[in-house]
Amino acid sequence: MWLKTLATSHLSRIAVLVLFIAFLLRFYINNTSQQRLFSTQELSLFNGTDQGLPILLGILGSVFDVTKGKTHYGLGGGYNHFAGRDASRAFVSGNFTGDGLTDSLRNLSSTEVKSVVDWRDFYLRSYKYVGKLVGRYYDSQGNPTKYLKGVEAKAARGAQLLEQQKIEEAKQPSCSSRWSQDEGGEVWCDVGYPRLVQRPLEIALTGKMSKRCACFEESQLDQPGLEVYEGCDYHANRCKA
Ligand SMILES: *[C@@H]1O[C@H](CO)[C@@H](O)[C@H](O)[C@H]1NC(C)=O
Ligand SMILES: *[C@@H]1O[C@H](CO)[C@@H](O)[C@H](O)[C@H]1NC(C)=O
Ligand SMILES: *[C@@H]1O[C@H](CO)[C@@H](O)[C@H](O)[C@H]1NC(C)=O
Repeated sequence: MWLKTLATSHLSRIAVLVLFIAFLLRFYINNTSQQRLFSTQELSLFNGTDQGLPILLGILGSVFDVTKGKTHYGLGGGYNHFAGRDASRAFVSGNFTGDGLTDSLRNLSSTEVKSVVDWRDFYLRSYKYVGKLVGRYYDSQGNPTKYLKGVEAKAARGAQLLEQQKIEEAKQPSCSSRWSQDEGGEVWCDVGYPRLVQRPLEIALTGKMSKRCACFEESQLDQPGLEVYEGCDYHANRCKA
């Protein structure tokens, strides 16, 4: 009886200790790594100017420590405009001036939004995640806003669209191509004839991907939307591009 009481009291002490450690851990994680919350102003201090501070970058409200990429993100580096702020839009617009450096993704296509989410994944893989930026994507409690959920849903639609397009394009073989300094670009088909085809608008919006070269057989050549390469014969199977 006495032994049994000792054992239970021992057990309950261990239980209390475990709970206490769990509480401490949770407190530690919430306050130091996972949950550090930044205001726009706080984040702006980590722009690479002060050599004593880490360099931080925000994307879709997630904040990363990019100090190890100092040559790019530091003062004078090619990506310095990403430091100390969330310039999510600039990852796809390439516009690093004035209002181009915004975290708004308004009016971007679903495939462009997907591309920004891919960039965030890249930073998750390559750099240290240090917290959240309070504002458009996270509220003052660090919870995702409806804007972030909207962006993620739109990116998922973009991913679906790209997947469908890949399946679609697999049905029509792509041209072979090569490029050399002396001769420039060339496309050709081992079977069929090279034609330029317009991609769907949602995908075309992502810059240079607006058209692709595919090989069509004789019987398909009267399909609408097929473009013969400029200066190339209707029945040539090799064209300068
Ligand atoms: C860059 O950071 C420094 C301090 O680290 C700060 O004084 C300066 O205002 C920041 N620049 C901008 C544009 O926020
Ligand atoms: C960048 O964005 C700003 C503000 O939206 C605009 O005024 C400017 O023309 C844009 N620059 C380029 C190169 O698109
Ligand atoms: C978004 O598109 C609408 C309609 O095309 C336009 O009126 C608006 O100015 C655009 N907004 C931004 C931020 O580009």
